[in-house]
Amino acid sequence: MAIQWFPGHMHLTKKAIQERIKNIDVVIELLDARLPGSSANPMLATLTAGKPTLKVLNKQDLADPQRTVQWLAHYNAQSGTCAIALDASVSTPAKALVKACFELAPNRGGMVKPMRVLICGIPNVGKSTLINTLTGKRATKTGDEAGITKLEQRISLADDFYLYDTPGMLWPRIIVAKSGYNLAASGAIGRNAFNEEEVALELLGYLKTHYAAMLAARYKLAGTAPPADLQDEELLEAIGRQRGALQSGRGVNLQKSAEIVIYDFRAASLGRITLETPGEFAQWLASGQQLDAERQIKKDAIELDRAIRFKKIKRPP
Ligand code: G4P
Repeated sequence: MAIQWFPGHMHLTKKAIQERIKNIDVVIELLDARLPGSSANPMLATLTAGKPTLKVLNKQDLADPQRTVQWLAHYNAQSGTCAIALDASVSTPAKALVKACFELAPNRGGMVKPMRVLICGIPNVGKSTLINTLTGKRATKTGDEAGITKLEQRISLADDFYLYDTPGMLWPRIIVAKSGYNLAASGAIGRNAFNEEEVALELLGYLKTHYAAMLAARYKLAGTAPPADLQDEELLEAIGRQRGALQSGRGVNLQKSAEIVIYDFRAASLGRITLETPGEFAQWLASGQQLDAERQIKKDAIELDRAIRFKKIKRPP
């Protein structure tokens, strides 16, 4: 399946980050604790040019606590990187954030060398919520559409601590197919960009392997095999039947069942779930990159062929 999204203002945001980054000491990358690997923008590392990075695993209240520990350890083992977990219920997140930033850039501080921090994250990761809590007021949401609100806001957390906000940004091309599904399940991608049934099937495929007990407890499926023994399609159908998602004379309404499954995941009605471990994500990334490289080789060969035929250039030896 191709999940197609339209990153829209991406070029403007990219340009704004490129200009701002020169005068930035620490980059805060807000990640979704339920899908840390998939919610990390692959363009960000290049854009932020090796600046010290604080990975904030946000929405930890929805994520599997054991897996959050694994992800924190994974990031904390990387040089120039520090990681913390947060959620909207933490009333004073500034304390942990400020401390981590000074650990990453210990030479900053005071009026002469204030700490300058850039905060980035994909849409819906909870950036506005966090910034509102940090500032203790209802700051306006940085527009996710360029031209509607300004591209960047500066927020002073203290006299010597500035936070620069950027609009939520997705990237143009997805290389890790599983990331597309996980982003769609999390709510980061607009609903017109994906097919709910496919996303729900993918989600159920993962949940029945890793969180089967939660599925069984939530849906109390009677008269079927345990979730782990069902095909993904059978599971989606059984959930729809159990939840009364029926269409007259034509059995289960699979679209409705898919919406129920996605909604339940987003609301953590199944329990606290994380859709990837660092090891799994590394494997998905490696195979995604390999497929992408193979695709590129084929594309180059087709283009060369075309050039030889139409522009009469010579085939290279
Ligand atoms: P953004 O600026 O990064 O786009 O995200 P925003 O703060 O608007 O948050 C997106 C949604 O996520 C909001 O839900 C918000 O309440 C929720 N959220 C933010 N931080 C947390 C958190 O730590 N834990 C949980 N459980 N939820 C969090 P919403 O207003 O209902 O929006 P939506 O779900 O209708 O998109």
